[in-house]
Amino acid sequence: TDETRPRHFLEIDDVTNDELESILDRATAYKHAQNEGEDHEDLDGQTLGMIFQKPSTRTRVSFETGMTQLGGHAVFLGEDDIQLGHGEPLKDTSRTLSRYVDAVMGRVFKHDNIEVLAEYASVPVVNGLTDDAHPCQTLADLLTIREHEGGFDGVSVAWIGDGNNVAQSFAVGAALAGIDLTIATPAGYGIDDDVNERARALGGEPTLTNDPVEAATDADVIYTDVWISMGQEDERDVRMNDFEGFQVNADLLDHAPDASVMHCLPAHRGEEITDDVVEGDRSIVFDQAENRLHAQKALLSWLLE
Ligand code: CP
Ligand code: NVA
Repeated sequence: TDETRPRHFLEIDDVTNDELESILDRATAYKHAQNEGEDHEDLDGQTLGMIFQKPSTRTRVSFETGMTQLGGHAVFLGEDDIQLGHGEPLKDTSRTLSRYVDAVMGRVFKHDNIEVLAEYASVPVVNGLTDDAHPCQTLADLLTIREHEGGFDGVSVAWIGDGNNVAQSFAVGAALAGIDLTIATPAGYGIDDDVNERARALGGEPTLTNDPVEAATDADVIYTDVWISMGQEDERDVRMNDFEGFQVNADLLDHAPDASVMHCLPAHRGEEITDDVVEGDRSIVFDQAENRLHAQKALLSWLLE
């Protein structure tokens, strides 16, 4: 590897366990600074370019607000608004943006595309979600679990539903942090073998099952996400059928009396989760959403220092 190459964040295991801990500590410090109204303009005058091929509420607003709070600026680049959506190759977009901005965040469909962005960029590239991974979500999730559980040691998380991008990054992040994870998906919807392999290499292979009750029983945290991710809309009928029985509802929570409930949002009430669970007192979904801001501010300032 070339020492002059920038550091990228395409997957949660692009950082070591120690680096993860220091990013989370920095996030906690930023959260405190913001709550206390203390100045923390560590990215004064810096600019983040944000490419979006898919819609977003949390990722877009947390990155843009985060840059403002750090004294910098963010530029929203919807695919159709820039030449990328009109035939300019990603590698040209990447090299051009690198001449203007200090870091690039990308939300793209194919994971290969975030890798192309990173390969051609001379500034750090951050993955803001691909079809395969959502590592910024995992950073916020780990911060949230650390706050609510007081640490990671002995914490058990049950992932219920689709072995999707959010599940995959969380599985590797859980291994990195030392969280005990069980993943319950319908057959055929599990995490990819190579993701399982990466978790194993970090010493934390998840337990895989097709039984949501088995996974949820006595868990400290129950985590779910949509059954139909962005780009899978054509699979709606098949998926709605295949995911029957995997809803996070009051009956499932009865098996885990102390569990908090996480969801990366947006939630589709009545599908993967019920309205009463999202609104209930065990739900920590908006703490998770808030922590996107603090975690990403920490990530950006860490990457850019
Ligand atoms: N959780 C998350 O990434 O949400 P958005 O799609 O709103 O960014
Ligand atoms: N799995 C979802 C996450 C959205 C933040 C999707 O990819 O659409």
